Amino acid sequence: MIIEPRTRGFICLTAHPKGCEQNVINQIEYVKSKGEIDGAKKVLVIGASTGFGLASRITSAFGSNASTIGVFLEKAPSAGRPASPGWYNSAAFEQQAHKAGLYAKSINGDAFSNEIKQQTIDMIKEDLGQVDLVIYSLASPVRTNPNTGKRHKSVLKPIGDVFTNKTVDFHTGNVSEVTIQPATEDDIANTVEVMGGEDWDMWITAMKEAGVLAQDFQTYAYSYIGPKLTEPVYRKGTIGAAKDDLEATAFKITEKSADLNGKAIVSVNKALVTQASSAIPVIPLYISLLYKIMKADGIHEGCIEQIQRLYADRIYGADLQLDDKGRVRIDDWEMREDVQAEVDKLWAIATTENLNEIGDLKGYSDDFFNLFGFKVDGVDYAADVDEVVAIPSIG
Ligand code: NAD
Ligand code: NA
Repeated sequence: MIIEPRTRGFICLTAHPKGCEQNVINQIEYVKSKGEIDGAKKVLVIGASTGFGLASRITSAFGSNASTIGVFLEKAPSAGRPASPGWYNSAAFEQQAHKAGLYAKSINGDAFSNEIKQQTIDMIKEDLGQVDLVIYSLASPVRTNPNTGKRHKSVLKPIGDVFTNKTVDFHTGNVSEVTIQPATEDDIANTVEVMGGEDWDMWITAMKEAGVLAQDFQTYAYSYIGPKLTEPVYRKGTIGAAKDDLEATAFKITEKSADLNGKAIVSVNKALVTQASSAIPVIPLYISLLYKIMKADGIHEGCIEQIQRLYADRIYGADLQLDDKGRVRIDDWEMREDVQAEVDKLWAIATTENLNEIGDLKGYSDDFFNLFGFKVDGVDYAADVDEVVAIPSIG
């Protein structure tokens, strides 16, 4: 079929297999161009199909020749109905990995469930014995807690006060004011249930008990901080409460893993266009200004550049350069004083009329469409493609 983007708000209902494949190939080429990383050889990535998790899987496989198992929740294609982009990404990743002689298998299902954890553990036991690195990169709006059977929904709201600020509709470029009512106590608790650290802890505990974590294993989860500007809706909002919980969980896991000398660490990553971040009000305007400034300074990075640098310079490099809360700060360039001062200046004057000029709205929009395999260089969108693509080693 001929597949075109069909957007509804901040989601796109279709995805293009060839565009997704090309994105994966581009990321692989980038990692290879940066040279070998002396990293883990057996890696589990939870949330492996898009964004930072996909970039982690690619960096492990093509930077360190690692065997990888990827867990994700994606929609399979059927005749006339394209898959979700993470499905096509994973199909392309496995094809490329297998071609390079690398072990790569995938599990498509709810990572929050006991069943998928058990299935993953069984796969590790059977095929790899143990893993040395576990990347935890889930981003989800809902979670069913397997212990209680209760389904929780996360929200993106400020805590305490009403928050009013500028935002942009990145499809139209229309800058407007958005007002968000503060969260209830339940909202906060639910968001921590979904995006906090409990599930990360459950994974590591189950893996430890099953004996599938190697001596000296490491596990990383990803967090975000961002500027004062977005604090009310991000770091000091409901999602920030969840990130506080995630960050505290790192210390708990490390403590519990002393017998294996295991370490759990959070990496604070840069703001980027992903399916998760497009849904957060105010953030798209911030990102479009940030992109413009960072591109002009030659310090712009996407997910793959971020994760390649995280692995090469920090995790397997000379020094993790942990901050006073024990976190890796690969958001260091975003948070540079000169960059943030420039964002503040542009934020104050940003309007519908000038945003195209002072911000990188096109960069934002292109990145958004790229997530779904659209507007990717070198792809013939007029050509008929087979929407039914299989992931070779899916469990
Ligand atoms: P993403 O939406 O691109 O990726 C989410 C992944 O989780 C996908 O692989 C998806 O399939 C998987 N997933 C979701 N629900 C699942 C479930 N129930 N079971 C199994 N898999 C499931 O998101 P992302 O932006 O790469 O976010 C990953 C992490 O990075 C998050 O913790 C996020 O907060 C963090 N982070 C994001 C940004 C940003 O700007 N995007 C910045 C810093 C940190
Ligand atoms: Na991810």
